[in-house]
Amino acid sequence: MNILAIETSCDETSVAIIKDGHKEIATTILSQMNTHAVFGGVVPEIASRMHIENITIVIEDVLKKANMKLTDIDAFAVTYGPGLIGSLLVGLMAAKTLAFIYNKPLIPVHHIAGHIYANNLVKPLEFPLMALVVSGGHTELIYMKEHYNFQSLGSTLDDAVGEAYDKVARVINVPYPGGPLVDKLAHQGNDSYNLPLPLNDDSYNSSFSGLKSAVINLVHNEKQKGNAIIPENMAASFQNRVVEILTKKTMHALKDYNVKNLIVAGGVAANKGLRESLTKECITNNINLIIPEIKYCTDNAAMIGAAAYYAYKRGDQADLNLNAKAVETLK
Ligand code: KG4
Ligand code: ZN
Repeated sequence: MNILAIETSCDETSVAIIKDGHKEIATTILSQMNTHAVFGGVVPEIASRMHIENITIVIEDVLKKANMKLTDIDAFAVTYGPGLIGSLLVGLMAAKTLAFIYNKPLIPVHHIAGHIYANNLVKPLEFPLMALVVSGGHTELIYMKEHYNFQSLGSTLDDAVGEAYDKVARVINVPYPGGPLVDKLAHQGNDSYNLPLPLNDDSYNSSFSGLKSAVINLVHNEKQKGNAIIPENMAASFQNRVVEILTKKTMHALKDYNVKNLIVAGGVAANKGLRESLTKECITNNINLIIPEIKYCTDNAAMIGAAAYYAYKRGDQADLNLNAKAVETLK
């Protein structure tokens, strides 16, 4: 089954063709990052307009790469949420139009299901599994006993981890997008600042706004005293707390649910510190760890095409009334 998938939930216009939920035939990603970087973050109105300009170009490009025609496609899939509403609507309209013209199924995919199924492009998922979803909008531990069955065990009570990275980046003068650069700096510095380990309890929930505020307060206090902070050391201290708490909660959930498979998903899965820490703990505890290659960690349509195959098998199919959802829980 060849699925053409469209992802436009944020600032990447991406289209992919995926066969049977695991084989990537072709993917194109057109990033708007340089346009938004000038503003220090994604500007929703600009993002929507750029998706409109780019969507047909990206669809044509992926078909050309795959050496396929639209008549070779068996179904059309699209991210319907969560995300920026204007951006989502562009992808949704494109997918609806194609499904209507070619009279093929329209498969709605939740963005986080996509991040999880990015792992299926690397290796078939083995169940039961635990998914640690860490991105700019999500921090969640999800238990899956079988394909396309999601049970949320806990999530962030405030900021998502990627969001905290991006805000910390700003106060230590690291340009947008902050996460990857803070990660890089963290490896050049020492954990010298006294920052709290956030929500260090037995729940599967997390919290990052207190840790973020601790960084902001420290930077301001030092500034008032006329002292400069050392960005590398602040990045290392912040990253160590984040990695320690995420590793602790994840290992705790794996033990409680007696699960031996762990997958990590979302943009922050690209984080070197988190990868190193989870790899070490998983070896010690005999857990099978899968983390996708960096290109599958951040937003892309290949992951949507992979998830769509299993969504379709579960019976998820939409008609032309399908609407975009800015906020939506994964079910
Ligand atoms: O999954 P994603 O591409 O978009 C969302 O669905 O949110 O994740 C983007 C987030 C951003 O906050 C970015 O700063 C963060 O992932 N990120 C990282 C790293 N690479 C991306 N955060 C920490 N370390 C990284 N290496
Ligand atoms: Zn994402």
